[in-house]
Amino acid sequence: MVTYIDAETAPLKNTGQIRLYGPKDFEAMHRAGQLTARCLDALAARIRPGTTTQEIDDFVFAFGEEHNAIPATLNYRGYTKSSCTSINHVVCHGIPNEKPLKDGDIVNIDVTFILDGWHGDSSRMYTVGRPKRAAERLIEVTYESLLRGIEAARPGNTTGDIGAAIQSYVEAERCSVVRDFCGHGVGRLFHDMPNILHYGRPGEGIELRPGMIFTIEPMVNLGRPHVKVLSDGWTAVTRDRSLTAQFEHSVGITETGCEIFTLSPAGLDNPAAHAPS
Ligand code: MF3
Ligand code: CO
Ligand code: CO
Repeated sequence: MVTYIDAETAPLKNTGQIRLYGPKDFEAMHRAGQLTARCLDALAARIRPGTTTQEIDDFVFAFGEEHNAIPATLNYRGYTKSSCTSINHVVCHGIPNEKPLKDGDIVNIDVTFILDGWHGDSSRMYTVGRPKRAAERLIEVTYESLLRGIEAARPGNTTGDIGAAIQSYVEAERCSVVRDFCGHGVGRLFHDMPNILHYGRPGEGIELRPGMIFTIEPMVNLGRPHVKVLSDGWTAVTRDRSLTAQFEHSVGITETGCEIFTLSPAGLDNPAAHAPS
């Protein structure tokens, strides 16, 4: 049975209970989320053929330093970078390296800043040079699936309503939803309860209540949904090597719907939609 607990009095570890946060906490999450969003905004102009993902990672680290924020991924379970950079058939947790991006690549950049103890977790897709038509379409479908998930994130609905909204749309577009990774509670912890599956049936899962804070981060493949993790222990790729995309926002459930903490102040939530073509 699921239990909900006031975030004020809950211990700062994942106890399996669902933390309910208050208005002050929402303000702190907004600040952390906006810092992450501004960093992702600033990256848009820096991504072009020849850019290395290590340069992206260095930028993220420096941006954090300038704003008194620490990248949550740094030294997280042995991960040593400030961001995840997932290119083409890499589903998630791609490790930044010195290999330059090429014309036509698509890349997800996932950043989580910890600001005053609060985690702002968000990722977006960027296109490098001139994207292929199939890549543009995949990115569009993935972004729309996140918006549909967010639309379902309101009191009275369940986590299953979010998953169902995403899955039904993605599959109607003849794409597939990755099952091996999910959204998660976020806030004072990086990864907390509940799990937010990006597939499922309406009414399943747990009831959404005002004060809940979590991410929605669908990974969508052009081919089959199956993934494997490479021998580095992190990089997840599509088994059929088909193209894959992901977008992520951190949201908080309000009385009437949800607040998106990581919304882009520059209107660049889907940077690929603004890229020259
Ligand atoms: N930011 C990722 C997420 O959305 C988690 C990355 S963990 C890492 O939950 F260790 F791979 F960086
Ligand atoms: Co996340
Ligand atoms: Co993330």
